[in-house]
Amino acid sequence: MKFFIDTANLAQIREANDLGVLDGVTTNPSLMAKEGIKGQEAVYNHYKTICEIVTNGDISAEVVSTDFDGIVAEGKKLAAIHPNIIVKVPMIKDGVKAMKWFTDNGIKTNCTLVFSAGQAILAAKAGAKYVSPFIGRIDDGGWDGVQLIEQIARIYTIQGFETEILAASIRNPLHIIKCAEAGADVCTCPLESILGLLKHPLTDIGLAKFLEDAKKFS
Ligand code: E4P
Repeated sequence: MKFFIDTANLAQIREANDLGVLDGVTTNPSLMAKEGIKGQEAVYNHYKTICEIVTNGDISAEVVSTDFDGIVAEGKKLAAIHPNIIVKVPMIKDGVKAMKWFTDNGIKTNCTLVFSAGQAILAAKAGAKYVSPFIGRIDDGGWDGVQLIEQIARIYTIQGFETEILAASIRNPLHIIKCAEAGADVCTCPLESILGLLKHPLTDIGLAKFLEDAKKFS
């Protein structure tokens, strides 16, 4: 399973990249706004900087147009920033049409705002490289996000779809473990959820004892 970091914060992206286990980055307009980035040029420069930090991974950059022509024009500009850019397109009617256009024209896409198996089938039919079910937001509504990952994984296996399942809207380390079990190809996570995987009190207790004992022979 690939690990992406879900942020536009450069310090967090650097920290995750330095760990050596990072395979890519996802952003969205809310995450970009949180960093205080204003204006199209600044936004595009920010994506370029992210691509220069994570040199060996896919970087999702989201369109904000909602009509076919607008999505295609915007996606072409985003894809021109760097070869590792993946154009993130919302699961709407014009979005599906645009994703098919991008597929036919050699531009890779990540279909975002996916909340059902039907939407995931459409994304795969349109040739999206990634489909992003938002599992945390599904859980927030009282449904089971991990179950959706399992269902999409089953459907994609039966049908031989090549679209990768990118579990998004991860809220904690358990989500990552459950998504790995459920067959997600990628988890995009906040830095704290990735670092949360490191933690176990018995590791800390065990290490403290080993270091104490090491003093006896050093
Ligand atoms: C990633 O592609 C999504 O934009 C992101 O995971 C959404 O997460 P949220 O539900 O925490 O906003």
